[in-house]
Amino acid sequence: MPNPSLLILPGDGIGPEVMAEVRKVIDWFSSSRGLTFDVAEDLVGGIAYDTHGTPLTDETMALAQSVDAVLLGAVGGPKYDELDFSVKPERGLLRLRKEMDLFANLRPAQCFDALADFSSLKREVIAGLDIMIVRELTSGIYFGEPRGITDDNEGGRVGVNTQRYTTREIRRVARAAFDLARKRSNRVCSMEKANVMESGVLWREEVQKLHDEDYSDVELSHMYADAGAMQLVRAPNQFDVIVTDNLFGDLLSDAAAMLTGSLGMLPSASLGAPMENGRPKALYEPVHGSAPDIAGSGKANPIACILSFAMALRYSFDRGEDADLLEGAVEDVLANGLRTADLLGEQGTSSVSTSEMGDAIVAAMDARR
Ligand code: IPM
Ligand code: MG
Repeated sequence: MPNPSLLILPGDGIGPEVMAEVRKVIDWFSSSRGLTFDVAEDLVGGIAYDTHGTPLTDETMALAQSVDAVLLGAVGGPKYDELDFSVKPERGLLRLRKEMDLFANLRPAQCFDALADFSSLKREVIAGLDIMIVRELTSGIYFGEPRGITDDNEGGRVGVNTQRYTTREIRRVARAAFDLARKRSNRVCSMEKANVMESGVLWREEVQKLHDEDYSDVELSHMYADAGAMQLVRAPNQFDVIVTDNLFGDLLSDAAAMLTGSLGMLPSASLGAPMENGRPKALYEPVHGSAPDIAGSGKANPIACILSFAMALRYSFDRGEDADLLEGAVEDVLANGLRTADLLGEQGTSSVSTSEMGDAIVAAMDARR
């Protein structure tokens, strides 16, 4: 069997710093667990634009299509604010998602016990939190046509985006959510705005139909996305799996992320259809962005990116035990009081750097082995 292959795209801002820590983890698995990856590295986002005039070259796109999994750091930064939409750093990421057809975006929001007091919500509200948001990632208003900015014929302009979902697009992401729920607490809450949007009506009907056909053992509920946002901050523990569209998923997953205390903790997996070798098309990335304000200062929290690699072990490489080991090591370092700057509450403990955190996680894996 050839080694599994990875394409690493560190990207912009804190992306390269956090990815350097993932590299340590990858190296550890090679030297200590006999799990060696063939690793390629390339450019995406602003740095690709600076080098090649495009946020993702065709060569990099082809490479992404050819590997078993892509690991991405972050894209974007204020330097690129004025660029035309077609070459903005974010377009590189969106192109990867679209062309790899990564329709199911898994965003877990888990509260680590050691950080429960760090949430903006009370400990009793978020303790034990374990939600999985499944966000549709390749359609909806992010990609719908028509789109654009044109003249409105009254001397002004008009900006247009289109929310559009087909039966097939709704069913395949709902199927992913139901399958995940079966491995968790067996509950799915579907969120849309069926009270005002036709695409929301279709969403609700198709999710319900699929449920009744193939997943009647899973508990399904529906919520309007605004009410869902409210419930998410009121009583987040009522949820197990939430399935929702691209835009609502973008918003709800940021809110859910903050419940856990820090955006710097949350990984994500974006999965598509199975490839010839049975592995799904896959891209793994932290939910946090490029954080240009702290880039280069050694303050970034590498945990979200490291936990994204744990998701790769689990969902792409069927190495659940290795994923558990890595996630356990992260829990250990947090329980031992190690904190990057984003995790310092009012307690005023001192913080460790990005690379000290990475080293500590690797040491904790050694200790657990
Ligand atoms: C995310 C981000 C992206 C999105 C941006 C960077 C294009 O906010 O992954 O949540 O809007 O999907
Ligand atoms: Mg977002």
